[in-house]
Amino acid sequence: MPDSAGDAGRFEQWGPYLSYGTDPATTMTIAWRSKEPTAGAWVKYGATQACDRTAKEVATSATRHHVVKLTGLDPATIYHYRISRDSDTAWTFETGLPAGSKRPFEFIINGDMHAYPCNRLDRYFQLMNSEAPGHDFYAGLGDFINDGLDITHWNAFFHDAREYMATRPLMNATGNHDTGNKEKYKNYLDAFVHPYVNPAEGAYYLIEYGNAVLFFIDSCNAGRGDPLPGDEQYAWLEENLAKHARADRWIFLFLHHQIYSTGDFGCPVIMNDVFRPLCREYHVDAVFYGHDHHYECFWVDRDAEWGGTLFFVAGAGGGQHHVDHGIMGDRDGKTKYVWPGRFLNVRKHGVPPPSPKSDGTTLGFRNDELVKQCQLIGVLEPNFVHVRIDGDVMDLKCIGWQKQVYHQLRVRRAGAGRKWDASCELQRVDY
Ligand SMILES: [Fe+2]
Ligand SMILES: [Fe+2]
Repeated sequence: MPDSAGDAGRFEQWGPYLSYGTDPATTMTIAWRSKEPTAGAWVKYGATQACDRTAKEVATSATRHHVVKLTGLDPATIYHYRISRDSDTAWTFETGLPAGSKRPFEFIINGDMHAYPCNRLDRYFQLMNSEAPGHDFYAGLGDFINDGLDITHWNAFFHDAREYMATRPLMNATGNHDTGNKEKYKNYLDAFVHPYVNPAEGAYYLIEYGNAVLFFIDSCNAGRGDPLPGDEQYAWLEENLAKHARADRWIFLFLHHQIYSTGDFGCPVIMNDVFRPLCREYHVDAVFYGHDHHYECFWVDRDAEWGGTLFFVAGAGGGQHHVDHGIMGDRDGKTKYVWPGRFLNVRKHGVPPPSPKSDGTTLGFRNDELVKQCQLIGVLEPNFVHVRIDGDVMDLKCIGWQKQVYHQLRVRRAGAGRKWDASCELQRVDY
């Protein structure tokens, strides 16, 4: 018989879990939550199992939530570490590549895990490790917690993620479910320790990793709930896009709210109006977002001289319970789960209007030429996205929870632009 009190304690104890600090090559933040408040928590760490260096937690008074920031680490190096709560257990992590390095690296992406008790996300974390064993970090797109005010949902997430997040950093973006109001936002900031620029205005930040710059945008604006970056965040975004666009690196944006999507929330005109000019001006390579619970790929401005921007819906992280199967009809064996070039919410919302909506509502979707021409593929099955960067080549796969590779593409940057690599065309799988 399980000890119920012991089980409760097991869920209340989070981590240890990892995230990069300001520089992925030389910093690592290790956080955990203990059952009772304690003071003086520490991390012992080192390049050997002896863990001969010690770092103390940031807090000086007794607390349940512990954060220890390691600095001065060597790049691309495996470290062993132990924490004061579980001093007999050792874990490892690997620091990232220095900014500007041309060495290959890999990461995974998805959003909308919607953790709550008993949805067993641990299976998905295990699958991401087994199907992408070489990935360096996880870029999250928000809505990892189903209800940011419910501690049992937070506990469920960190319980299911405990083995994964002890060894690989998760860099997350805010979602409406986990930061949809001020109170949720506070819980979010306490839990996800990232190198935020100005948390009073939003949980936005960037990391430079090898020959890429990754922007994490708070589309919930510090719990105010708007789907666009607020004034200060927008100014930061534009300033830093301008700075890095000149550096000839991959530029990726990660946010929660969708820009182009034929899913439940459609294509808000206002998102196109704000993000498309930014992507054009600063030659953003790819934008990843969730909120809609499926996978979809759009290639916008692909005929432009600089190569255009890839937009991905990657919000199918929550398993069967949180993928919008309803919009495709019954699972009678005939339903297509992959629908290149089609709108998927016709059944739910009726035939799309002949002209784009311009009122900016999030449920409006555009039946316009842009979406028709730019949608490459959609996948209505739980999945995650795996990206491998090797110099000027990006290989991307959409991998389903049943281990199918639904979509695979290779993009080669050519100076400021990109071309198809003819040896690896778009692959489509019909089920
Ligand atoms: Fe969601
Ligand atoms: Fe959402």
